[in-house]
Amino acid sequence: MQPETIRSVPELRRDVAAWRGKGLSVGMVPTMGALHRGHEALVQAAKAQSDRVLVTLFVNPAQFAPNEDFAAYPRDEEADLEKLAKLGVDALFAPSVEEMYPRGFDTTISVGGPSQGVEGEFRPHFFAGVATVVAKLLIAGLPDRAFFGEKDFQQLLVVKKLVRDLALPTEIVGCPTVREMDGLALSSRNAYLSKEERARAPKLYAMLRALSGRLRRSATPGVDLDEAKRALGRTGFSVEYLEARNAETFATVADWKNEPLRLLVAARLGKTRLIDNIAI
Ligand code: PAJ
Repeated sequence: MQPETIRSVPELRRDVAAWRGKGLSVGMVPTMGALHRGHEALVQAAKAQSDRVLVTLFVNPAQFAPNEDFAAYPRDEEADLEKLAKLGVDALFAPSVEEMYPRGFDTTISVGGPSQGVEGEFRPHFFAGVATVVAKLLIAGLPDRAFFGEKDFQQLLVVKKLVRDLALPTEIVGCPTVREMDGLALSSRNAYLSKEERARAPKLYAMLRALSGRLRRSATPGVDLDEAKRALGRTGFSVEYLEARNAETFATVADWKNEPLRLLVAARLGKTRLIDNIAI
């Protein structure tokens, strides 16, 4: 069955209230569309844990800097809707920019802690844009659970912090990164890669795997990271960051041996910006 397409916040509220009135639990999967198997895995997790599943599709201008790819970002609502119908999604919330940011909109949510550094350093407005739109979506839909991918690991921690700090009544569920057979993490932006770049792209994850196996035991983790950055540079990547952080607080590493750690990378291949991460 075709999911119902909802365009306005009041309509969304009405639908969710009707579900709740029947005692049904609600799972939300926020996306920017151009759906792939990574998004589909989130929908499947949501289906398994909720009576009704609501997917949101909104290419959020607030999280793109003026020099980024907001205009070029792939959009195909019809194809997305078809995929969601096959997955048995109940509703698609696909608002216009005016619906989410009406004239005079003047509120920004800025999360401290896990927004600091790494992705936040290279995309300074990114997490405020994400936090503002995710807060608006969660407040509009009040789902029992919302599902986010580990692919955007720092974003997942920022959303968890947002929900904790504002005491929003939604549980944030993190889901593992879905990859191509050769290890490349699925991303809507992979569509930008040329054939030759696509062939080289899996080296990013191969490097993360190799490093994750030895960083904890290394006497000089900083040197290992620098070496890996240079090696990626020689393979044609332009590395923005390659950094380990505490996997729960996102604080810088104090104890390489005993903390839960995550290794994160962002690198450009031609005009495409790729990000990935792995547990260490
Ligand atoms: P988008 O890039 O469309 O991603 C939507 C969700 O899918 C995010 O939670 C992301 O982490 C997850 N995802 C993307 N690729 C994945 C993969 N290969 N495996 C598993 N999960 C994957 O992230 C956003 O949109 C936006 O910032 C959003 C949260 C919707 C706010 O605008």
